[in-house]
Amino acid sequence: MLPSVAKTILPSIPSAKKLYNVVITSDRTMDEFLAEVKRTFEAPLQLSALLDISAKLKAQYKQRLLESDAPCMLPSYNHTLPTGEERGTYLALDVGGSTFRVALVELKGKDLGEKGMEIVKMVSYKIDNSITALKGRLFFDWMAEKIEQTLAEPEVQSHRGSKVLPMGLAWSFPVEQTSPRSGKLKRMGKGFGADHGCVDIDLCELIMDSCRKRNLQVTLDAIVNDGTATLLSRAYRDPATRLALILGTGTNAAIHLPVTALSQEKFGQRPQSWHDEATHVLVNTEMSMFGKGIHKVSKWDDDLNEHHQKKDYQPFEHLISGRYLGEIVRLIVVEAVADAGLFEGRLPDGMDIPYNFYTDLMAQLEADETPSLSKSMYALQKAHPLPASHPYTRTDVVYLRQICQLVSQRAAAYLASGVHALWSLRLDEEGLSPDAEDHVTIGCNGSVIEKYPGFRERAQAYLDELCVRSGGRRGGIVLEIAIESAIYGAAVAVCALEGQDAGVDGKVG
Ligand code: GLC
Repeated sequence: MLPSVAKTILPSIPSAKKLYNVVITSDRTMDEFLAEVKRTFEAPLQLSALLDISAKLKAQYKQRLLESDAPCMLPSYNHTLPTGEERGTYLALDVGGSTFRVALVELKGKDLGEKGMEIVKMVSYKIDNSITALKGRLFFDWMAEKIEQTLAEPEVQSHRGSKVLPMGLAWSFPVEQTSPRSGKLKRMGKGFGADHGCVDIDLCELIMDSCRKRNLQVTLDAIVNDGTATLLSRAYRDPATRLALILGTGTNAAIHLPVTALSQEKFGQRPQSWHDEATHVLVNTEMSMFGKGIHKVSKWDDDLNEHHQKKDYQPFEHLISGRYLGEIVRLIVVEAVADAGLFEGRLPDGMDIPYNFYTDLMAQLEADETPSLSKSMYALQKAHPLPASHPYTRTDVVYLRQICQLVSQRAAAYLASGVHALWSLRLDEEGLSPDAEDHVTIGCNGSVIEKYPGFRERAQAYLDELCVRSGGRRGGIVLEIAIESAIYGAAVAVCALEGQDAGVDGKVG
């Protein structure tokens, strides 16, 4: 971690220089500095360079599909895509990075359009630092307490009657599935302590043990990663869905592949009946873990990685996800202040603290359409005040915004190359030519892809070019938002896996 310093406005450039371990070679003008950032961030984005990244990523994906001990390319137990005819009522659990959501979901069939999947009641519980700090079983006890609170909601009471409620879980962390409803807990990341003493213990048992202590009338019938949940929920509505993408705090992708794409060992111990039925399988790629040595990175990315608790663990995530985009900008700004005299050499309050410049703020700067950029100035002053005697100027904001645009533009392009590589991998494994299908839908979920201004459009534009350059159609890969996909996908997973007796009312299919 960077050394912690008092949150004061730094008096002069030299003292700012001493505080950070960015190597400062020479004093430059602000224009020279920005030109360097621009060169660094735009150079790898030529189409030919992105195609090269995509080809190398595809090779890495293929390799990991064969390696049984790799913590990525994890096959789920779901081997069919939903038909959209599945029906039933389920309790869906979604453990994300910052919220735990519990919802009663009704699946009524895709013929009803938007109403085919309905959230009857959903309660969100914030996962703040005190909750992420809960170690081992204490976290699962907390989950059970929140499930109990949700079950007590009048809408849930009136829908469920006295029947045992089947639950599906969308888990935003890696899990090594051992059956449709069980899986070994793996290292969790995102600052969670729940894996403490519990790595390789069955996730279903951890949750059910805590539920049993409270005598809750529930069973956990399906566990899926949030990427897989997103694929299931989008496919329920759109039969062209073969991939899903999560891009929020973290990133991931899930993909529908022929079982022959994976080595036999990758499937672990599964009943022969599973193998007899499965021609395809939904794979949790853990895409965040790929790309080391493939993406061109800047000295600021290196700095971020060097000070990361889990150095090199999720290199792709460091370049594109919401947890890191703001931090990359912060590291650039620190150098721009010290080296090129941005903000007259004053580091705004709180900008010295790692991870304290939020991607949210970048999004606000990029979204500001006021001619004077007054919204941005207000937001900046609120989050990172400068002294009243030297307030933010329009020029400062334009400068900062250009840095944000360069960082988010690179993220959109790198994301496109990662998705293009998955698309191309699937074509290889299916033995399809690039123009064989009219289009493939990618269900997307997460704050960055859903809300960051222009992000999805920029990624789509890159995807279109990459697709055409590799013999596909323009619009052959379509990024579509899948709203509430973790919650809906958890419900679809129960229904799809449990068959006839999965629904409360037994009405399936
Ligand atoms: C992280 C997790 C992954 C999850 C993703 C999106 O990368 O490792 O399991 O799907 O975040 O939430």
